[in-house]
Amino acid sequence: MNSPFVKPTPAFAASSARARLAPVTIERRAVGPRDVLIDIDYCGVCHSDLHMVNNDWGMSAFPMVPGHEIIGRVVTTGAEVTDLVPGQRTGVGCLVDSCRQCEACEDHLEQYCAKGFTLTYSSPTRDPGGLTFGGYSKQIVVDRNYVVKVPENLDPAAAAPLLCAGITTYSPLVHWKVGPGMTVGVIGLGGLGHMGVKFAHAMGARVVMITTSAHKGEDARRLGADEVLVSSDAQAMAASMGRFDFLLNTIPVPHDFNAYMMLLKRDCTMCIVGAIGPTANLNTAPLIMGRRTVAGSLIGGLKETQEMLDFAGRHNVVADVEVIDIATINEAYGRMQRSDVKYRFVIDVATLG
Ligand SMILES: NC(=O)c1ccc[n+]([C@@H]2O[C@H](COP(=O)([O-])OP(=O)(O)OC[C@H]3O[C@@H](n4cnc5c(N)ncnc54)[C@H](OP(=O)(O)O)[C@@H]3O)[C@@H](O)[C@H]2O)c1
Ligand SMILES: [Zn+2]
Ligand SMILES: [Zn+2]
Repeated sequence: MNSPFVKPTPAFAASSARARLAPVTIERRAVGPRDVLIDIDYCGVCHSDLHMVNNDWGMSAFPMVPGHEIIGRVVTTGAEVTDLVPGQRTGVGCLVDSCRQCEACEDHLEQYCAKGFTLTYSSPTRDPGGLTFGGYSKQIVVDRNYVVKVPENLDPAAAAPLLCAGITTYSPLVHWKVGPGMTVGVIGLGGLGHMGVKFAHAMGARVVMITTSAHKGEDARRLGADEVLVSSDAQAMAASMGRFDFLLNTIPVPHDFNAYMMLLKRDCTMCIVGAIGPTANLNTAPLIMGRRTVAGSLIGGLKETQEMLDFAGRHNVVADVEVIDIATINEAYGRMQRSDVKYRFVIDVATLG
């Protein structure tokens, strides 16, 4: 049954840049014919949430209810939604709309929509409040096209990070055809990095965890890394020159990535997914000398997100998570900033009251 309106929804929001998150009440739009109303069970905490609350990218709008790693169950659907039923486990990632007509949208690459997509939070919308509000909340209303089905065999809390960290690492690994016989380096063992290790391992590659934190080595192996390379160990870095078929760089802050470029074989690519903005001092020598490439990649389209979830279901790939009470979200942000998370915080939305 379609409800004509959605009752006010408890949420956590930042009122301005760098403000501590605090309880608020928001409104969701009425369920339209193509919409799905979802009761949120879990929401992952992405480093992008921290960037957005801090307005690191100069595009944040407030009040902000962050959260784009959403897992929940369908409450009700609009009349035109025929393939989702109440109770079904679903997910919502970083996007809730796009133009649906441009070449990118037609190619199922909504993340590269030429007219601009609508982010799950902090994007202008005609919904109540004028801004999209994310998953640090009890309920959400999303157009069916931007909702994915989550395999029931996956633990729901551990599956939440698949909606951003998972697809952001899966998509470049697939695009650069990672598989058996390849040596892949994943740089930075955080939320994205640990998913990158798990997916690259599941795809059959030899995986090397490249980390600034020597103490994470044991974990990296448990997650699926065959080797660990500590980037501050100059000797080990020199010994690894020219041995990688692909590098996935997840570091969230500006850094000198020339040293990493030297690790690549000729003609191979380092894909940067860390949203670090402008970066200085690109040394062209490692590029020219080995015809190497630096590339970037943004999350993944909805079709690929569904494929990623199906792959995760088959291979039982989920995140290693620390489930938290939403009352501790500000402390969790502090710990994430200090790289002190194994390896993704996930909010138990039941703690929202
Ligand atoms: N492209 C996309 O579509 C997309 C999607 C989601 C997120 N992102 C971005 O991806 C980045 C990573 O997100 P995340 O959630 O994985 O972050 P995270 O959980 O905080 O992990 C980042 C990891 O990078 C390493 N690191 C941190 N500071 C470093 C430094 N100063 N120098 C070298 N390494 C450092 C640490 O690993 P070690 O201790 O192992 O070195 C850390 O655990 C963020 O910028 C986020 O906004 C991009
Ligand atoms: Zn994210
Ligand atoms: Zn488009």
